[in-house]
Amino acid sequence: IATEAIAQTVTDWYDTNARDLPWRQPDASPWSVLVSEVMLQQTQVSRVEPAWHRWMERWPTPAHLAADPPGEAIRAWDRLGYPRRALRLHACATAIVERHDGEVPDDVDALLALPGIGMYTARAVAAFAFRQRHPVVDTNVRRVVARVVEGAADGGAATTPADLRAVEVLLPDDHEAAARASVAFMELGAMICTARAPRCAACPLTTVCAWRLAGSPPADGPSRRT
Ligand code: ADE
Repeated sequence: IATEAIAQTVTDWYDTNARDLPWRQPDASPWSVLVSEVMLQQTQVSRVEPAWHRWMERWPTPAHLAADPPGEAIRAWDRLGYPRRALRLHACATAIVERHDGEVPDDVDALLALPGIGMYTARAVAAFAFRQRHPVVDTNVRRVVARVVEGAADGGAATTPADLRAVEVLLPDDHEAAARASVAFMELGAMICTARAPRCAACPLTTVCAWRLAGSPPADGPSRRT
């Protein structure tokens, strides 16, 4: 399969199979996308969805959140876990008001400079909210690329510059197509190309996946029993 065809195949799969999540709607605001990414970092989608709806209803813009005390953000964070993320989101909203007139910046470097926003989140917001062409690489995407391209069972524990390049070369040149492919790779990793018991029979890349073609070898590791 040609490299360019991989993103197209996964995007076509996404169009008919992806979950219909509110922060993926075309009218989702950049702030709502940013909030979703911070919530999704350590919490599963099913728990994030109701909390995200409540949060966006109460604080539809950074200015709304910045106007309330940080303690209110902690309280609203509720059962999402890792509540320091609520304080960081509050600090982030305050910085957006102070530095950017209350508008989420569309530039990766300006996003990175905000409190609580790391490389992953900065690229995710630039791609998903502003439809820019950036490799958006999390555990799921590292695993998909490791399997399809490299024939390995798993990606590494953290995103390396080599991971970013490996994903970047798969993205279409067109920025909108690249943004669509980025969320599609993530969804494939979350729904089909899972760490344990991947659903290869339902995968659009099953006939071209290097890992599958090699017989789905297990990850190397010291824990193999004899
Ligand atoms: N859609 C966009 N970003 C996502 C994420 N981090 N997890 C699940 N779905 C997403």
